[in-house]
Amino acid sequence: MSRPLVVDVHTHVYPPSYMAMLRARKTVPYIHDPASGEPRLIILSSDDDPSIPIDERGRPVDTSYSDINVKLTFMQQHGIDCSVISLANPWLDFLDPAEAQQWAERINNDLEETCAQNNKSSNPDNNLPLQGRSTLFALATLPLSAPSADIIVNEIKRLKTLPHIRGVIMGTSGLGNGLDDEQLGPVWAALEETQFLLFLHPHYGLPDEAFGGAEVTKRYGHVLPLALGFPLETTIAVTRMLLSRVFDNFPRLQILLAHSGGTLPFLAGRIESCIMHERKFVENGGDVPGPQRSIWEVLKTNIFLDAVVYGTAGLKAAVAAGGGTDRLMFGTDHPFFPPLNEGEKEWLSVTTNYKAIDATFEGETEAVAAVLGGNAARILKLE
Ligand code: URA
Ligand code: ZN
Repeated sequence: MSRPLVVDVHTHVYPPSYMAMLRARKTVPYIHDPASGEPRLIILSSDDDPSIPIDERGRPVDTSYSDINVKLTFMQQHGIDCSVISLANPWLDFLDPAEAQQWAERINNDLEETCAQNNKSSNPDNNLPLQGRSTLFALATLPLSAPSADIIVNEIKRLKTLPHIRGVIMGTSGLGNGLDDEQLGPVWAALEETQFLLFLHPHYGLPDEAFGGAEVTKRYGHVLPLALGFPLETTIAVTRMLLSRVFDNFPRLQILLAHSGGTLPFLAGRIESCIMHERKFVENGGDVPGPQRSIWEVLKTNIFLDAVVYGTAGLKAAVAAGGGTDRLMFGTDHPFFPPLNEGEKEWLSVTTNYKAIDATFEGETEAVAAVLGGNAARILKLE
């Protein structure tokens, strides 16, 4: 049988305009150019530690973050036919309200243009199948700090007119108060109406205290914030959405959760059980009714999961929670987690995910093809 289509739904860029904006800043998030060596990206609050010399803070940020040709080479080296690119964290969360709309339009137009130019040159007549031709689509970013939700809703509507945009990426802070904020209603409604996929992605992690304090966090580099902080942040955010009845009120909302849902597939039963045993929603004087749709139903109808979990146990939990293999989609998290040795072409982070998919669905050719690309092509209407 021929090789299956491979679509990467979790792959980031910082367009050159965004890099320039970060370079002009002196507080998190920012880019610092040392006198020698690679520029440094300081995006997590824990990165900006005054006890570390500024030239060593954060992580190196090479051209793989902003040069689309570097991503295209990476795609070819890893057998990826199509990438659905998204702005990386922390998106536009930190912008001054007055600047948000303008920056969202600019970044989203840049993403659209990058996809259009690339796809035109890889398939001038636009009539070839996706396989083997390095196609790009994009998930846009929203002006979440804008002074009114109308501005966000208008951007969602405008995005519908851009041919390569298939959804939006968002962090967990929403308008500043998390994703159970009632003020987000018009945004959920617009996403539901446009049937755009919402890619929910972590950035803020957990406070250092959760790991034993700043000293402990620092001792282990990025391991605690990225391995545990990120997935728990996603789990908490989506659980708050569930508890505040977002999925009752917007039953057609479609969400893709990063990193296989954080820990949601594993904890779903416990979350549901705690909801069932909680009387505070109404009876105990609380005035918030509990969610009416079960977490299992939401997982099967509103939630998609990426396959960026680096192991068979996580993939099995994702499939079990989502009720099958048709809601799971391959991703790489490129350009994060590059090889440690210079010159190495094969990325361990990518081969680990490929191997986990092969091992989890051994002998199930159709399931492998669905997870690697078939699901993404169908769900995101990639043609
Ligand atoms: N680290 C980040 O800051 N973002 C990612 O998407 C992955 C790792
Ligand atoms: Zn990511």
